[in-house]
Amino acid sequence: MVGRVSAGPSETRGKTVSEAVAAWRSVRAFDDRAVDAAAIRDILRRAARAPSGGNLQPWVVETVEGERLAALKALMRRLSVERPEGEAMAYDFYPRELKPAYLQRRRRNGEILYDALGIDREDKAARTAWINENFQFFGAPYGVLLFIERSFGPSQWLDLGIYLQTVLLLLTEAGYGACPQADWAMFDRSVSGFLGMPPDLTLVCGVAIGFTDTTRPENRIRTERDDPLARPDGDSAEPSSAARPPRGLLPGAIS
Ligand SMILES: Cc1cc2nc3c(=O)[nH]c(=O)nc-3n(C[C@H](O)[C@H](O)[C@H](O)COP(=O)(O)O)c2cc1C
Repeated sequence: MVGRVSAGPSETRGKTVSEAVAAWRSVRAFDDRAVDAAAIRDILRRAARAPSGGNLQPWVVETVEGERLAALKALMRRLSVERPEGEAMAYDFYPRELKPAYLQRRRRNGEILYDALGIDREDKAARTAWINENFQFFGAPYGVLLFIERSFGPSQWLDLGIYLQTVLLLLTEAGYGACPQADWAMFDRSVSGFLGMPPDLTLVCGVAIGFTDTTRPENRIRTERDDPLARPDGDSAEPSSAARPPRGLLPGAIS
C-alpha cells in the first residue's frame, strides 16, 4: 500500500549491530565516491521499524541530493554570511546552565575536535568557518533533514531520536559515514521555505551522508565516553552561557 514501509530483513550483511555501535563516529569529511541514493532511501524507510510511543512515527524525512542539494548549499553560503547568528530556533539545544560534569564533557569534546583540525581556541574566524561547514553538509553528496510537528513534545522528540540512531546504525552497516547536525535547526525558517515544508513542521536536525574520507584528521578522532552506570560528578549548577560560542552547536564550538 502506498505510504507504508515494508521492512523485510536487510540484504546488507556488513556489520553486526554491536560492530556498528562500536564503529560509530561522526564523519565530517567525505570523499568523491558517489552514493547509492536508492540504497540510502531504503535505509531511511527500513529505519522506520524504530519504535515510537503509540506508533505515531513522528519523523518527517526530507532528502537532498544533486541540483537541489547544490542550490541549498548555495543558499546556505549566502545566509551564513548575511545572518551569522542564525534565525530563531525552535528549541534550545543546551539548557542555559550545565552542571560541571556536562560542561567538562563539552569542553573536552571541543578540544579533541579542534586539536585534530589544528584550530586554535581563540581563532574565532577559523572556528566560524568550520561551523559554517555544517551548512554545506561537510561536503557530503547526500543530505537528510528531519522535521517534526511543532505541537509535539518530549515523547515524540525521543521517538525521533530513536529513528535517527536507527538510520545512523544502518548507514554504518552499509559502509556510509554520517554526521547528525542540529546546527541546521538554526536556519529552520529558510530551510523549510526552500524545501516547501508545511508551517506546522519544524526542523530538528540534518544528517550529512557519504563515504568517509579516512585521510582527514576530523574523521580520525575518537570521542570519549563515561560509564553510563555511574552518576555524573557534582550536583552544583554552573552558568554555561559565558562559555558559549556566539553561535553554533558544534561540539568543538562549545568550549
Ligand atoms: C542530535 C545531535 C546533534 C548533533 N549536531 C551536530 C552538529 O550540528 N554539528 C556537528 O559537527 N556535530 C553534531 N553532532 C555530533 C556530536 O558532536 C557527536 O555525536 C559527539 O561529539 C560524539 O562524537 P561521535 O559521534 O564521533 O561519537 C550531533 C550529534 C547529535 C546526536
